[in-house]
Parts: sequence; structure tokens; C-alpha cells
Amino acid sequence: MRKAIIAGNWKMNKTPAEAKELVTALAPLVKDAECDVVVCTPAVDFAAVSEAIKGTNIKLGAENVHWKESGAFTGELSADMLKACGVEYVIIGHSERRQYFGETDATVNQRVHAAIKAGLIPIICVGEKKEEREAGYTNPLVSYQTLIALTGLTAEQVAGVVIAYEPVWAIGTGLTATDEQANETIGVIRAAIRSAYGDAADKVRIQYGGSMNPKNAKGLMAQPEIDGGLIGGASLKAEDFSKVVKYNA
Ligand code: 13P
Repeated sequence: MRKAIIAGNWKMNKTPAEAKELVTALAPLVKDAECDVVVCTPAVDFAAVSEAIKGTNIKLGAENVHWKESGAFTGELSADMLKACGVEYVIIGHSERRQYFGETDATVNQRVHAAIKAGLIPIICVGEKKEEREAGYTNPLVSYQTLIALTGLTAEQVAGVVIAYEPVWAIGTGLTATDEQANETIGVIRAAIRSAYGDAADKVRIQYGGSMNPKNAKGLMAQPEIDGGLIGGASLKAEDFSKVVKYNA
């Protein structure tokens, strides 16, 4: 069976000192978690966080990665640089990158290849906007986003990625997809993966993201297709995030 994975996405929050304080408080609260626990942090926090999580079950993630190994790409970070800082996971194609920074399905695919080549586990974000759901486009849209992101990977590589289904209308809004909506759309994503990669679809872990919090985590995680969560706001407080991580408690 698929092991659940709960990841925090800190977005543009926390100085190194604040990051250290947060993970130091978090570590004892999640030490016997049954799921994988990841914090995806700003790059300036990598040193503080990787030091603070030594000997714990918390893993470090980044929030983006460039597709080239090095070169004239001012302001960007390569997969090898992330690896060298102790990063194991990387969020790719978050809707905020798509909305504000020109991220496309094609660049998501390039970043996914770079991450996997360097031995990082990509957390690939897909999801529809409110008007797209209302127009009835959710299923083809998330299927397309997913398959473009995975283009050129082997089935074995696909089996190892993490997908995050994040309906854009649920991010930071307090609106959550219902358990059934999230489960259904994640089922659609898994079916799309199955159509191209066969049984690898049974191994891919697919998270839900969008206003997931200590109150709604249990119901979402009880759904058969949902293998985890990508948590924004509720990952910024140790107690809240630990309660999502221990969704069954
Ligand atoms: P919120 O949990 O704040 O809605 O953010 C979700 C998200 O974007 C995680 O990547």
C-alpha cells in the first residue's frame, strides 16, 4: 500500500531563526508519525532546518527548482544545489508559480526531469481554477496537467513521484474541496496516469492541498484515493501542522 505523506509548504514565510524555532517545536510532536513528514521551506532556511531536523523523521523540501544544472539564470537554484543543502523533495508547478511567475506545463515537465535526475522527489502540483470547475473542465484539465508534467519519464520514475491535487479556489481561501470532490478528482488523476503508465498509477502518491487543517484532515485522509496533504497556512504553526500529520489521533 502507499505510505501517506504530509508536507508543509511554507511559501514566502519564516526567517532562518523562525524556521529553526518552528521545526524544533515540531520534531517532538511528530516523532512517531506513521506517515512521511516533509517541510518545504524557502531556500534561505535550508541550513537552519537541515541542522534542526538531524536525527528526526522530518525531511526537507524546496519550493522550486530550475531545469538546468548551472549557468546564467540569475536568481535560480539547480537540483544539485538543493541536494547539497540536504533537500530531498521539491514542489514543482505550484499554482502560485503558474499564476505569478509564468510557470507552464512544459516548464513543469523540464523541472521534474531535472529533479529526478538529481535524485530529488518532485511534488508536482496540478489543479483547476474556480471558473474551470464551474465550466466542467476539471477532469480533462487535471489529466492534461499531470500527463504533460510526467512526459518522458519511465513508469518506474513515475511510480516514485508525488502529485499534489490543489484546486486553486481552495488555496488560502478557507474553502476546502469536500472529501468526495477531492477523492473523485484524485481518482481521475490516477486514471490518467494508469492510461499512460499502467500499474505505476497504484504506486504514485497523490496528495490533496487547499485549506487542509487539523479539523478536516481526518475526513480527507480517510478517502481511498487520497495519500497525503500539502499544507500551506496550517504548516506555519507546529501544533497545527502536527495535528494534520497525526490526522488519525
Ligand atoms: P493553504 O493550506 O494555505 O490553503 O495552502 C495550500 C497550498 O497552496 C499548499 O501548497
